[in-house]
Amino acid sequence: MRYMLTSNEEQIAKEWGKYQGYTVRPLPSTIAYYRHWIARKTLQQKYLIFGGTPEIRSLFQALALKVVLLDKNIEIVRAMGRLTLANIPIEKNETLIKKNWLEANSLPQKFDLLIGDDAINMVSWNDFSLFLKTAYQLLNEDGIFICHLLVKPAEKLINNRIDDLLVEYQRGDIPSVYDLASRLNFICFDKKQYSMGWQQTIEALGKEKLDLFKPDLDFIDTFKFCNSLFYCPPQQQFEEKTHQYFEIVELFYPHEHHYCQYEPVYILKKKAHAND
Ligand SMILES: C[S@@+](CC[C@H](N)C(=O)[O-])C[C@H]1O[C@@H](n2cnc3c(N)ncnc32)[C@H](O)[C@@H]1O
Repeated sequence: MRYMLTSNEEQIAKEWGKYQGYTVRPLPSTIAYYRHWIARKTLQQKYLIFGGTPEIRSLFQALALKVVLLDKNIEIVRAMGRLTLANIPIEKNETLIKKNWLEANSLPQKFDLLIGDDAINMVSWNDFSLFLKTAYQLLNEDGIFICHLLVKPAEKLINNRIDDLLVEYQRGDIPSVYDLASRLNFICFDKKQYSMGWQQTIEALGKEKLDLFKPDLDFIDTFKFCNSLFYCPPQQQFEEKTHQYFEIVELFYPHEHHYCQYEPVYILKKKAHAND
């Protein structure tokens, strides 16, 4: 599946510029938290990013740390490079490896710190175990995986109708367009697959309904090229899976928006022995 519905690097970067504040891009509190964990590691550490998230790459650039970027789509990573501090497709401290994360156990290197911003959400719920197992295999002893993910929103938010959202938005109970965009995705959440995404929402609600929120939020115009689909399991089920391979060292919630309560960041430490 294509992550963006255009392959022009410049256009991908331009579209991503629009997504700041929405759930796809890390928020300032998340970035500060990432910085804290990356900077506390000492020299000679080996680092890997799942994907090309510009905010994370900028942290490594600022700290002048070498880092491997692992992604199956070179165009996206190069386009994201334009949104980093260095503002170029691939900076000197970065090594890009083109690979499916689910096949990454064949990589010859091992790492001390892995980080993924909504990366695990890109694989289906059935593949979460394999993703976690691969992360485990990629880590050195005592290695850390910083795993940010979207989890399943509360049932009552999934069961809302679009008219409820309109009333809530007009009353000011949905405080921003950033929360509004997420709430629109929530009502189109697929309970069987645990999936949600921009195109799924556009297809389910259609132009007429989404246009009710214009001019504050032009959902279709903003997200028409963003084809990411997030698989968001119930949080408890996610934690049960992680326990096979990791200990949960810390849990952090960004705080800028209401939707952040469904976007925990886990600090996972590799267990001495996997329970699989
Ligand atoms: C890090 S993820 C999620 C979006 C994230 N919030 C961000 O800031 O980029 C986006 C990236 O995942 C990559 N991707 C998705 N599934 C993948 C897979 N199975 N293996 C490797 N890369 C994958 C896409 O190519 C895209 O560049």
